[in-house]
Amino acid sequence: MGQARRCRRVGQQPHPQPDHGRHHAQAGRAGAPAATEGRGLTAWAIVGASGGVGGALADVIAATGAPVVRLSRRTGLDLTDEGSIAAAFAPLADLAGVIVATGLLHREDRQPERDWRQLDAAWMAENFAINTIGPALVAKHALPKLRRGDPSVFAALSARVGSIADNRLGGWHSYRASKVALNMLVRTLAIELARKNPAAVAVTLHPGTVDTGLSKPFQRNVAPEKLFTPAHSAAQLWRVIQGLTREDNGFALAWDGQRIPF
Ligand SMILES: NC(=O)c1ccc[n+]([C@@H]2O[C@H](COP(=O)([O-])OP(=O)(O)OC[C@H]3O[C@@H](n4cnc5c(N)ncnc54)[C@H](OP(=O)(O)O)[C@@H]3O)[C@@H](O)[C@H]2O)c1
Repeated sequence: MGQARRCRRVGQQPHPQPDHGRHHAQAGRAGAPAATEGRGLTAWAIVGASGGVGGALADVIAATGAPVVRLSRRTGLDLTDEGSIAAAFAPLADLAGVIVATGLLHREDRQPERDWRQLDAAWMAENFAINTIGPALVAKHALPKLRRGDPSVFAALSARVGSIADNRLGGWHSYRASKVALNMLVRTLAIELARKNPAAVAVTLHPGTVDTGLSKPFQRNVAPEKLFTPAHSAAQLWRVIQGLTREDNGFALAWDGQRIPF
């Protein structure tokens, strides 16, 4: 598809403004974003910037000089409260990208299922609230804020275990199912996005197995070279994001740029 190849890739800034970038990156890091943050600038918004991968992604993007708005529960955005999502995005405009880096796999008193006898309605609902419904509500308020004309991206972190085709091990029922549903939602949103903002793309991304709080209890059998630092995963993901074209719209991609089968 020549058209896709000819169009500018999403990581490219049409009007680089490095000084503004540094200012805004720091403003976002300090706490709630200023009301003007991102307005008229080619800013990136990271939802879940308090997390391992989300924080590293914010750092990687800020290091390029691009403005970064760091959103999380610390700045008042809670995925279970749509009003807080709407309020976080209300002051933003002309965004170059939005990355949803939130996620839930376990809590102190809750582990992913290993057996169907462990299925529990409340835990399943919590997985879907954080891994599926929250990111969808972010999309609802963030997609209209993507810049028009120049390329832009909406990316939600999913997981390879959310691939039905790749599921040979079983287990982690609620997490897997919530990520499958996330992939479907982003695919559906991407089709709508292509009509409403043809320069934008929406994808889900698998960050690899990353040394964060989310993976901590499950790292025992991971070979050291397959356990990424958050900084390494973020650098890989940023490379993938920068290379996105319209041909990728609606698909799931891994940290190495490979498409993950649904
Ligand atoms: N780490 C891995 O090996 C791995 C592998 C495959 C996929 N992933 C995916 O990558 C993404 C990032 O994971 P990570 O490893 O960086 O996990 P992490 O360090 O545990 O970060 C999780 C993030 O989600 C946020 N979050 C949870 N509940 C929230 C809520 N109700 N409202 C707002 N934010 C909420 C957390 O915010 P607080 O700081 O406020 O708790 C935190 O920012 C997730 O989608 C995960 O499924 C990770």
